[in-house]
Amino acid sequence: MHFNIKGILIRNGLSLNVNLQPQIYISLYDALKKAILTRSLEPGSKLPPSRILAKDLAISRSTVLKAIDLLLVERYIDSVKGSGYYVLSPKDKKLRLNFTLADKKGNYPQLSDKGKAFSQHMDWSGESADKGVAFRPGLPPLDIFPVQLWKRLISDYWRCVTPSELSYSNTIGLQCLRENLAKYLRVYRDIDCDPDQIIVTSGSLHSLYLVSNVLLETHDEVVVENPTYPMAHALFKSLGANICATDVDDQGLCIKNISCQSPKFVYTTPSSQYPTGIKMSMERRKDLLKWASEKETFIVEDDYNHEFSNWERPIGSLFGMDQQERVIYLGTFNKLIHPSMRLGYMIVPHYLFDAVVALYQQSSRFVSIQNQKAMSTFIEKDHLNKHLRNVIDVSNERKEVFVNHFKKVLGRYFYLDTSNPGLHLIAHITKEGLSDVQLEKILLDHNILVHALSKYYVHRNGENGLVMGFCCVNPKQIRESINKMERIISNYLG
Ligand SMILES: Cc1ncc(COP(=O)(O)O)c(C=O)c1O
Repeated sequence: MHFNIKGILIRNGLSLNVNLQPQIYISLYDALKKAILTRSLEPGSKLPPSRILAKDLAISRSTVLKAIDLLLVERYIDSVKGSGYYVLSPKDKKLRLNFTLADKKGNYPQLSDKGKAFSQHMDWSGESADKGVAFRPGLPPLDIFPVQLWKRLISDYWRCVTPSELSYSNTIGLQCLRENLAKYLRVYRDIDCDPDQIIVTSGSLHSLYLVSNVLLETHDEVVVENPTYPMAHALFKSLGANICATDVDDQGLCIKNISCQSPKFVYTTPSSQYPTGIKMSMERRKDLLKWASEKETFIVEDDYNHEFSNWERPIGSLFGMDQQERVIYLGTFNKLIHPSMRLGYMIVPHYLFDAVVALYQQSSRFVSIQNQKAMSTFIEKDHLNKHLRNVIDVSNERKEVFVNHFKKVLGRYFYLDTSNPGLHLIAHITKEGLSDVQLEKILLDHNILVHALSKYYVHRNGENGLVMGFCCVNPKQIRESINKMERIISNYLG
């Protein structure tokens, strides 16, 4: 069927005004996505060839291809070799139905601007949550979590629980857990804090959500490292922030290149820059604290995997160096233990404390008490320390297997950077004709999960590489999955 693609896209919000929309491919991607979800473009229909689309819209073909790449990755369209791009049926029928109805003007109240912004910046990796885990970045060795021990801790909780403990609980977390956390932070991070300063959350992203919401107004400036954690970037964008992307060198965030004047905060990962793994030097840390003081701003220190990055070369936290209550510290157990734990914590300056707690109380109230209790005992009885040692040993073993096999089998396509002390490595693509976005999609079709490095960059146009977790599956699966990758890539290259 022939259709007027330009008309459809404009009806679905396409803006080609460069001044209003500097990232035209994002506008094109959004309009195509909306047209698919609202069935202006029917499942099965063929998109015009990229060359024609580019001509119709008077934009470059590479801009069209960038938008198409995103739609391919998110499975809104598929490519059929030698034929073109076809609209896929949205998998989640319920979502599709809601979208279709909600989009008919007049049926429902309008979404708020905030609601629209949140749905516009939905996580690009979420759809793959149920896929096989090799080589999902950021996962610890999931198979060595002491399940029996944890079951015992949970059943201890239920054996001893009193009726009053089943009631509503303190938003900031159980006293016993906060006390054990304060001891843990003293030992592992040299952080001296009062248990009453700690707020237990469901993880770093939850903490970041609370902090960002109490600080940001639309158009407020936020400094982020470039590349950065895409979910943090998406959150700031959803809240309407102006992102000040600042590059990173071998000492960490390049403070002298920060271009905005009065940011509300800087979001940084000094222990192990995400995803490059660069550790911020001591000098840069001092400069950053000085800069924050001069600009009268906050620093959000996301210490997401300090247990790994500080194991061999320990360096204190920015929080520990701060004399002015400018650092908001985020920690998590979801990386060291497993992400389904949903347990993290933060330390916020007194100035922000009440607002953060109020927002927390009025949204998710508090996190699961049985998990808090079990984690408190896990720390107190030194199980956490033992588990950490196991995780480090097993991760190191698996890293060696991964690196050796990867270099042997895939070395002609990639340069593998082995310097990252965390749970993932970056494989830079050296072979011409391979794009990370394309590779991510092709591998996902075969149940191998990697993340395209370019998407970690604020304008999604950074280096061409793959971010790969290496330790969530055992050595046999590591080798098999690398062999499988080799077959897929050589087939793809023909
Ligand atoms: C840099 C960074 N910060 C925070 C998080 C989120 O951690 P959590 O699962 O505790 O929300 C992640 C997860 O991958 C991460 O990579």
